[in-house]
Amino acid sequence: MKTDTQPSTPHLVTDADELRERIAAARAAGKTIGLVPTMGALHAGHTSLADAARRDCEFVVVTIFVNPTQFGPNEDFSRYPRTLDADSRLLAEHGVDLIYAPPTEAMYRPEHATYVVMEGPALLLEGEFRPGHFRGVATIVLKLFNLAQPDRAYFGRKDYQQALLIRQMAADLNLPIQIEVCPIVREADGLALSSRNVYLSPDERRRALSISQSLRLAKKLVSEGTTDAATVIARVRSLLEAADLNIDYVALADPHTLESVTTVNRPTVAAIAARVGATRLIDNEILGEAD
Ligand code: PAF
Repeated sequence: MKTDTQPSTPHLVTDADELRERIAAARAAGKTIGLVPTMGALHAGHTSLADAARRDCEFVVVTIFVNPTQFGPNEDFSRYPRTLDADSRLLAEHGVDLIYAPPTEAMYRPEHATYVVMEGPALLLEGEFRPGHFRGVATIVLKLFNLAQPDRAYFGRKDYQQALLIRQMAADLNLPIQIEVCPIVREADGLALSSRNVYLSPDERRRALSISQSLRLAKKLVSEGTTDAATVIARVRSLLEAADLNIDYVALADPHTLESVTTVNRPTVAAIAARVGATRLIDNEILGEAD
């Protein structure tokens, strides 16, 4: 546990060799390494991951890299918010030791030709609507794991499928890394924090609330005894449609395999992906278990 009372000023590192050297020095000093991979545009969801890493580990690394390989051709890679100065200031307040923010060419040499391709749960939900997305995520996360060689790595449950797949990858590829999945952080009115929320107009922000509201409705229906998944999905869809959202999917799925369930008689993940105007948002809730 870190005992300093003053938050440390993070070193900003862009070079992989310097990253390795600084982490090796921390490890040689007997420190455990916590890694928080991000794409920047940080908010309280990200800082909750940094805080968890700070609690568990003695040397905390946050990576900031907008990873081109996880964006589809018509997605928002070029307009994804890039706010490194503000991110660095925020991370300083959370006692992060090091920020690794490599240039794109350093992570993907022109001759880059190796990718991590996942099957099983990777092919469902986001995998159906964003082909190639998890290939990009798994590849960059494995690269970051190899560079930082952390003891623990932290991910948010808002990206439920991503966190599940990273755990799967760590187990499948025998990575000696503890994957920690931290709770979703929400605005006071329930909207899940996302770097993409900055795209929302005031009207879209209001309509986007239907996502968390409909997940709460699903949880309530199940807690009151509804077990028919189709009934729950229909109620969720009608709330989203009333707010004029364009739905990619509303799924009730097994929390491990992500296969659809027809009966909610055990803990089940309710997952939504929907567009509010041009902004695609995702959120999820676990049904059939206490908060
Ligand atoms: O969740 C994200 O921000 C990204 O998918 C991640 C894990 C940093 C990989 O680019």
